Amino acid sequence: MKIFLDSAELAEIRRAADAGLIDGITTNPSLLAKAAGSGGDPREILAEIARTVPGPISAEVVALDAQEMLRSGRELAKIADNIVIKVPLTEDGLVACRKFRAEDIRVNVTLCFSATQALLAAKAGASFISPFVGRLDDVATDGMELIGQIVQIYENYDFATEVLVASVRHPVHVVQAAMMGADAATIPPKVLWQLLKHPLTDKGIEGFLADWAKLPQERRGL
Ligand code: G3P
Repeated sequence: MKIFLDSAELAEIRRAADAGLIDGITTNPSLLAKAAGSGGDPREILAEIARTVPGPISAEVVALDAQEMLRSGRELAKIADNIVIKVPLTEDGLVACRKFRAEDIRVNVTLCFSATQALLAAKAGASFISPFVGRLDDVATDGMELIGQIVQIYENYDFATEVLVASVRHPVHVVQAAMMGADAATIPPKVLWQLLKHPLTDKGIEGFLADWAKLPQERRGL
């Protein structure tokens, strides 16, 4: 399963990229506005992200009608070859998605909350579908059940659209996504580092180092 970082913060992105842990980045208007908060230029931030991570970088249009989504998306796509345009799962979003596909611009259809929405996005030629599991959990609906449905539907009809699990809140979401065969999950930095850490690993290292230190100094070099 591919792991994307859900962030527009360059320091966090560089750390995860340097560790070789990520295959791409997703941003959204909230994340980009936060990163650009103290005077940064969102376009410049996206350009730097695209230089830092060679995989797909999702950049979202901030528009409601298809024409404006197309105008804005074409501008965003000029920033770098690895930019993927994110559009919301609305009637206009799917119209824009079809047009982008015809222009060979990859699209991530976002804010997906149902299997029927995911089916329509795949038929519109989306490269990625982003179902928001955490926000479904927030309203007492099982977000991961939706992932199972979408994976099954896409398999049934051999859709090329990749299932990109979004609104991930904790490591269990990631484990479930991988077990269900989702293509990718986009993960906030805090959860990415939670995937790596285990207290028994730390304790084990501590024990090995302590035992090794009991050897006389001159025999410790390996
Ligand atoms: O990038 C979209 C998504 O991952 C947002 O997550 O935590 O705001 O629901 P969240």
